[in-house]
Amino acid sequence: MKTPITVARGDGIGPEIMDATLRVLEAAGAQLDIEEIEIGEAVYKRGVQNGIEDSAWDSLRRTKVFLKAPITTPQGGGFKSLNVTVRKSLGLYANVRPCVSYHPYVETNFPGMDIVIVRENEEDLYAGIEHRQTQDVVQAIKVISRPGCERIVRYAFEYARANGRKKVTCMSKDNIMKMADGLFHKTFDEIGLEYPDIEQDHYIIDIGTARIAARPDDFDVIVTENLYGDIISDVAVEITGSVGLGGSCNVGDDFAMFEAVHGSAPDISGKGIANPSGLLLGAVLMLNHIGQSAVATKIHNAWYKTLEDGVHTGDIYDEGLSKERVGTVAFADAVIARLGQNPSQFKPVDYGEGSSEGLKLPPLKPRRMQKKELFGADIFVAFEGATDELVKKIHAVDGLKLEIISNRGVKVWPNGHPDTFCSDHWCLRFYKNEDITHDTLLAQLKAIKDAGVEFIKVENLYEFDGERGFTLAQGQ
Ligand code: NAI
Ligand code: MG
Repeated sequence: MKTPITVARGDGIGPEIMDATLRVLEAAGAQLDIEEIEIGEAVYKRGVQNGIEDSAWDSLRRTKVFLKAPITTPQGGGFKSLNVTVRKSLGLYANVRPCVSYHPYVETNFPGMDIVIVRENEEDLYAGIEHRQTQDVVQAIKVISRPGCERIVRYAFEYARANGRKKVTCMSKDNIMKMADGLFHKTFDEIGLEYPDIEQDHYIIDIGTARIAARPDDFDVIVTENLYGDIISDVAVEITGSVGLGGSCNVGDDFAMFEAVHGSAPDISGKGIANPSGLLLGAVLMLNHIGQSAVATKIHNAWYKTLEDGVHTGDIYDEGLSKERVGTVAFADAVIARLGQNPSQFKPVDYGEGSSEGLKLPPLKPRRMQKKELFGADIFVAFEGATDELVKKIHAVDGLKLEIISNRGVKVWPNGHPDTFCSDHWCLRFYKNEDITHDTLLAQLKAIKDAGVEFIKVENLYEFDGERGFTLAQGQ
């Protein structure tokens, strides 16, 4: 019985490392029924604005398993990241990235390193919600949800349990983003109570990243938000020896996508020198996922043996340690030649026989409805001029008072610092001084418009069970 999977060869080094990977899979006897789809640059250039055709979605929905080579995402403009689109569209909420050192066969400062990064995969600044609101100011919105936090945190704990891991470390920046990252950290603490058998700690992301780079042995499983997870997994894989060594899986309730941690490496594309290991290890995770664990074992052990024998691609080649510098094709050939062999120094892996269909999480915890009350509004305006001139134009309507004015998050009125730089993007913060409704806010917007000032957006201020649902401005 062959398992249907969807394959995309991607951009840059993608086709080279995918060819190598598929050859190894075939030689090892993987039973796969491959449906190939095209996504990325080429599709976009054909005029498909989102870079992925409907037929590709059909294939993904049919097979539910996706082996994907890296794709190039334009910087600073152009089409949105297809990786992110696929991850979010298919509900692949967890991105799991093992980062393991292959000492003494691959040069690394950290012989004992063996960490797994569990990266939230759907939210955060990766939501990609951006607006240019004035001549000078753009904003990107960071979206963090309670269910999103709960699922990823629980996934990390369940993963730790299922894989015999001892500790889960949470990383966030809740000293600065007290609400968004605060929710992530708080959820970690709360869900963590259900896993007393697992050691738990928290690092602020900046020192956490530094510690990964300097003392990775302090970590076991790390759970973090999307952007931080992206950054620390490149750091972690790179210090194992090369970013080319990292495989990863993106998992959801119904779908799974397997890929390398790295990107399309345009700088070495077409040269035949890319290390296919990241994608190959992604494929090993896939074989386990679809129940072809015996093949996964065979490939992983042959791959270890290849490293041990000193057959290395350029990214990990080291005069003292390596025996032979090979390109992508020859590396795959070397792995194929060793299928059926075990490593003699590394501990051979044995994934057993059965399927590891992935972790099935319990439903989200029930939530109690909270009392939500309108407290005021932040009305953002575009204004060219000084704070005093703006203040003169603005009058609060009945029911509201102008509490403060801020600019780029810092209070500039009342009692602003003369040294604060003001952009053309201002926030007028109105608080209620009696009961208000949304009509009060509409009246305030109209008053602002009638004063000749352009409002550009409104963020309502709420209290939940009497607790403030917004942060104070700096200096407020
Ligand atoms: P990159 O990961 O493609 O390359 C970073 C550096 O590592 C380069 O010097 C590259 O030559 C080297 N490298 C990467 N993979 C290698 C391998 N297998 N063997 C040997 N050396 C390797 O990151 P970069 O340059 O920032 O991004 C290039 C493109 O890839 C961008 O368009 C980016 O959006 C995309 N990208 C796609 C990803 C995906 O499809 N999942 C993930 C990350 C980036
Ligand atoms: Mg990345």
